[in-house]
Amino acid sequence: MIEDCRLIEFQQKGDERGHLVIIEGNQDVPFDIKRVFYIYGSDRDVIRGRHANYHSEFVLINVSGTSKVKVDDGTSQKIFHLDRPHIGIYLPKLIWKDMYDFSEDSVLLCLSSEHYDADEYIRDYDKYLTIRKEGEHA
Ligand code: TYD
Repeated sequence: MIEDCRLIEFQQKGDERGHLVIIEGNQDVPFDIKRVFYIYGSDRDVIRGRHANYHSEFVLINVSGTSKVKVDDGTSQKIFHLDRPHIGIYLPKLIWKDMYDFSEDSVLLCLSSEHYDADEYIRDYDKYLTIRKEGEHA
């Protein structure tokens, strides 16, 4: 599962007027985009996320500034550095994620495969581990 978390490099359409990055659902990201939100104004010592999702897949992009994303599949962990506006990280469902170390100018754009549903968020890490273990034996 952790191996399924991967960086995606989007094509940059730059010319003398500046840069343009295009992200189309099911083409540049591996899902239909149903929801877009963005996170900014978080101090460097803030940890956001701290959850996993039963169904939602995400792509996270620092369109401005930098942050780090720690992903955890219940067995392994990996840290991704987001530091360029044309680089995203793809997160499949059922991945625990922490976003942290936000630069002052960080704007973290989040694309999701699902509409918001609080019930599909797993916010308790022990519960998450139990769900993962049950999944292994299913
Ligand atoms: P939260 O999931 O804690 O944000 P993060 O994962 O970035 O730390 O969300 C903060 C609040 O916003 C919480 O009350 C739920 C609400 N929210 C929505 O209503 N819709 C959304 O799409 C998201 C991401 C959050």
